[in-house]
Amino acid sequence: MENRSIAIDGPAGAGKSTLARALAKEMGYLYVDTGAIYRTVALRCKQVGADPSDPEQVAPLLEGLDLRMAYGEDGVQHMYLSGEDVSEDIRHHEISGMASQVAALPQVRAFLLDFQRRQARDHDVVMDGRDIGTVVLPQAGLKVFLTASPETRARRRCLELEMRGQKAEFFDILHDIQQRDYQDAHREVAPLRQAEDAVPLDTTHLDQKQSLEALVELAKGRF
Ligand code: C5P
Repeated sequence: MENRSIAIDGPAGAGKSTLARALAKEMGYLYVDTGAIYRTVALRCKQVGADPSDPEQVAPLLEGLDLRMAYGEDGVQHMYLSGEDVSEDIRHHEISGMASQVAALPQVRAFLLDFQRRQARDHDVVMDGRDIGTVVLPQAGLKVFLTASPETRARRRCLELEMRGQKAEFFDILHDIQQRDYQDAHREVAPLRQAEDAVPLDTTHLDQKQSLEALVELAKGRF
């Protein structure tokens, strides 16, 4: 039988990862955070001083890239780069912008496509990202497009960074979110857009519990 998959796409800070993880737990599926994969490629660029927006510097890095994803006993996704657990390092604010730049390169997207699809071949998944419903898993049984206003998303990102002990200036974060939205939506390859058959869910006025309830209802109605 085909594995069941749920695709959750949307802009930065819409609550995708928190909600997708909770939904996966509720459904007994594996949660795949694809942003973490792009972030790991961005971290590699940083390590070697490559310009993340320059395909001539990034493409050669992909060939020797030792990228791995594994799940801890707690079910949490960990990213490994050259054997080292980089799950925390990839969350730095600087890496967010770099990830958005590498993600605009067709070579990077092509390289990561099969890596992502393999997860859904082997497991029932809730996968979140920007192009999961449109490109990675166009056959997903449920597609959700999660949004919230830029201000709401910036506020949530600030709280998240503060909880990780990182400094967060609201207006800086808002500016970065708007810049990333633009970059993600206007790139030539796999731009962020709602799949035609995706269900839109705006969480601006929903708290986490209400958003999760809405998602679980959608998922249980489908599977
Ligand atoms: O979701 P997250 O903020 O961790 O993603 C980091 C960046 O990776 C995004 O800004 C986006 O540019 C890129 N990305 C993507 N496609 C995905 C997941 C993430 O382009 N499926």
